[in-house]
Amino acid sequence: MTRRHRSLSGIKPTGTPHLGNLYGMILPAIALQETHDSYYFVADYHALTTGRDAAKLRENSLEITATFLALGLDPARATLFRQSDVPEVLELAWLLACVTGVGLLQRAHAYKAALEAEKIGELSLGTFYYPVLMAADILLYDADVVPVGRDQVQHIEMAQDMAGHLNAIYGEVLHRPEPLVRAEVAVVPGLDGRKMSKSYYNTIPIFAPSAKAFEKLAKLVVTDSRGVDDPVDPDTCTVYQIYKLVAEPAEAEAMAAGLRGPGYGYGHAKAALGKALEARLGPARERYQSWMARPDELRDVLDEGARKARVVAREVLGRAREKVGLPPR
Ligand code: ADP
Ligand code: TRP
Repeated sequence: MTRRHRSLSGIKPTGTPHLGNLYGMILPAIALQETHDSYYFVADYHALTTGRDAAKLRENSLEITATFLALGLDPARATLFRQSDVPEVLELAWLLACVTGVGLLQRAHAYKAALEAEKIGELSLGTFYYPVLMAADILLYDADVVPVGRDQVQHIEMAQDMAGHLNAIYGEVLHRPEPLVRAEVAVVPGLDGRKMSKSYYNTIPIFAPSAKAFEKLAKLVVTDSRGVDDPVDPDTCTVYQIYKLVAEPAEAEAMAAGLRGPGYGYGHAKAALGKALEARLGPARERYQSWMARPDELRDVLDEGARKARVVAREVLGRAREKVGLPPR
């Protein structure tokens, strides 16, 4: 029997999830549960490369879980789990590390960026090793597709390389994954027009606490000094770029037409954005808050997910152990 294609992705519990995470990864991942055997996890081992606050890590992990559930992940169909509940991943990472050149890791964009910020002697080994662990995350589940934003594509290509190395040395054992990047949301802009990212402090959280909070955030989107009667090209307008993700297509078309013509300026666009954010995310916020009030149930979902994920993980790791010559377990 041929199995359903498998989708897999992870997200670090390092802060409040934002619209970049939502459109780049979370919604595409949830949509795949309709057609794929889906595995999504809270990447808590990965979060340790930057975070140092144990209580925050636990809290953020539950927030991510509640976010997925509030937005429609169905635990009866998709497997949602904590990375660290399947420690087999650390063992596969070691097998990969042993066939991976240091040079490959030195080419990682994230590592290069970290090197610009800190001297090599001060960087943690975990930061350097990150792509190996990420490759193991993906390869441990025989994933076919990995839904992510564009910034993660290099990591997935590295996972392809590592699978290729192991297979070339020991024979076919690991399955080659493909990144899945939706062009229209590959890079969601933040308040300042750069890529929306926790590191740039330019995010719009998925669940801002109230409609008012969304309105205020919308007002913070950076625009130029053109007035209401000046024509604006929507493609250069960050308010519109965010709006078109959130609003219905006809509403987005109306804003584009408004901006191009006189009598419609950034103030109008920002007010529309604030309203659209609330209309799109307000109902899910209620579900989110209701999940967050039931942390034990969130933990149950994660425990059950880990149980299912572990079955696959043990099978794939067993295959790899056998190929490299380690005894069966
Ligand atoms: P951040 O840059 O805020 O730290 P993460 O690295 O935790 O975000 O990203 C988690 C997921 O969300 C990844 O799949 C990433 O590609 C996606 N993502 C993050 N920011 C964006 C964005 N601005 N546009 C598209 N996808 C994004
Ligand atoms: N590195 C990803 C990020 O920063 C998170 C992640 C960890 C991941 N392991 C993964 C994503 C495996 C996809 C597949 O967003």
